[in-house]
Amino acid sequence: MGHFQRVLKELAKRNISLGRQRKDEYVNQLRSRIRRTSGDQHGQMLDNLLINALVEARSCERFKLLSEHIADESLRKFYRELMISEAGHYRTFIELAETYLPAKQVRERWKDFLIIEAEIMTNLEVRSDRMH
Ligand SMILES: [Fe+2]
Repeated sequence: MGHFQRVLKELAKRNISLGRQRKDEYVNQLRSRIRRTSGDQHGQMLDNLLINALVEARSCERFKLLSEHIADESLRKFYRELMISEAGHYRTFIELAETYLPAKQVRERWKDFLIIEAEIMTNLEVRSDRMH
């Protein structure tokens, strides 16, 4: 069974319905920082891949914390599985970037995005109604 089906099953067990997908201010702000220079398709592709890598990496970190601290044993295991899966997705995006662009350029832009992300996080509203 896929991860999404398993999430639905866990929700059903708890009598919770799946809510609507909400806009994600963190992702939107990251995406607003994609280079828009015309003719720089490689630069834009790199930015897109790195934003995806970043989102996957942060998901991985959240699932790690959940898998270590949540009381429910079956959820701990599930979150650990999701953590491993997200780590793989992060690697996939980085590897894709390195397939098309020099590793040095990928690393340098990654560092830019870590700084951009830190700026975004400083100004983002803290919310208790989401974890992923
Ligand atoms: Fe993922």
